[in-house]
Amino acid sequence: MSHFVHRVRSGIFGFVLLAALTNVAISQSKSPVAPSEQAYNNIVKQAYDNFKDDSSGKNADYIPALAKVDSKLYGIAIVTTDGRVYKIGDVDKAFSIQSISKVFTLALAMEELGADEVFKKVGSEPTGRPFNSIPAVVDMPTHAGNPYVNAGAIATASLIRGSSADEKWKKLLAFYTKAAGTQLSLLEDVYQSEAATNTGNKAISMLLAKYDRIYSDPFESVDVYTKACSVGVTANQLAVMGATLANNGKNPVTGEQVIKRENVPHILSAMLMAGLYDGSGSWAWHVGIPAKSGVGGGIVAVMPGKGAMAVFAPPLDNAGNSVKAQKAIAYVADQLNMNIFSPASVGLQ
Ligand code: DON
Repeated sequence: MSHFVHRVRSGIFGFVLLAALTNVAISQSKSPVAPSEQAYNNIVKQAYDNFKDDSSGKNADYIPALAKVDSKLYGIAIVTTDGRVYKIGDVDKAFSIQSISKVFTLALAMEELGADEVFKKVGSEPTGRPFNSIPAVVDMPTHAGNPYVNAGAIATASLIRGSSADEKWKKLLAFYTKAAGTQLSLLEDVYQSEAATNTGNKAISMLLAKYDRIYSDPFESVDVYTKACSVGVTANQLAVMGATLANNGKNPVTGEQVIKRENVPHILSAMLMAGLYDGSGSWAWHVGIPAKSGVGGGIVAVMPGKGAMAVFAPPLDNAGNSVKAQKAIAYVADQLNMNIFSPASVGLQ
C-alpha cells in the first residue's frame, strides 16, 4: 500500500471513529461523572433533614397572595439528564414560578428571534441591584439590564411574537409546559393579586418605553409577564424544566428537544451572573452553579450535563431568594462536587 493510500485510509478510519465517538457523545445523556443513585438518595435526604427546621427568612408579601402560602412547605427534587428522579418533602405542591419563568421566556424569545437579536435588544449585564430596581433602568447602559431582572424580563416578554397579548401568553404557557413535560396552568389568585399591585413594574415598562427598550405595548407586556410569573409549578416539575437545560435543551423525561442546544449556554451564563439578583455574586463565589430564584420560594439549580435540583420553601432573604432552598442546594453542590468551576465537577480529583 502506498504511503498516500495508507494516509487516506487512516484518515477515513479516523473520521469514522471520530463520528462514532461524537455520536456517542450526542446521544449519551448520562454524564460519565454523574453521582450514583445511592449518593443522590443519601444527599437529598440529608439536605432535607439538615434544613427542615430552619425558620429564617420571610414569605414575600408585596404580592399579597404570596404572604398567605404556608411558610413550612419544603420540598426537594432532583431530575437527572437520564430521567431519574430523587425527591423528598412537598414536591407535588404547586407554587407560583415567579421569576424562574424569566429563564424560559428568554429561551422562547431566543427560539423565535435568535440569541444575537435578543442579546442586542435586552443585554446581559448584572445590575447589582434589587430585581425590581427602577434606578437601574435609568443607570444601566442597556436600560433593560438582563433578562432576569424585572426590566429585562418585561422587555423579553415584549419580544415574544403574537398578534395579541393573549396569543403571546398562551405560547409562553405551552412552551413552559413542554419544558416541564406535564401541563402547567395559571394560579389565578396569584395573578389577580399581582395584577392589582404591580405599579412598580408598570413604571419600569414606561421607563423602558422612554429608552426605546420595549418592543410591544408596555402595559400589555407587563400583563403577559405577570401571567408568566403566576404559572403554578411543583418542585418536581421545576426540576424537569431545569433538567431540560442540563440536557442540552432536550426534556429528559419526554425526549422532546424544547430549546435549541446552542442557546443553552447563554441561558445558563445569565443564570450564574444574575439568577439570584444581588445575591448572585455571593452565590457564584460559594456555590458555583447556575441557578434561578423566584419570590414564590422556588429555586432551580442546573448542573450542566448531570441534572437539575429544584427546591421549594417560601421564606426569603433580603434579596428575594428562598433561604432553605439556597442552603439545601449549596449542601448538595458541595457534597456531590457540582461547582462548575471546580475541576472535581468533571471528575478530576
Ligand atoms: O415582578 C415581580 O416582582 C414578581 N412577579 C417576580 C419577582 C421575583 O420572583 C424575584 N425573585 N426572586
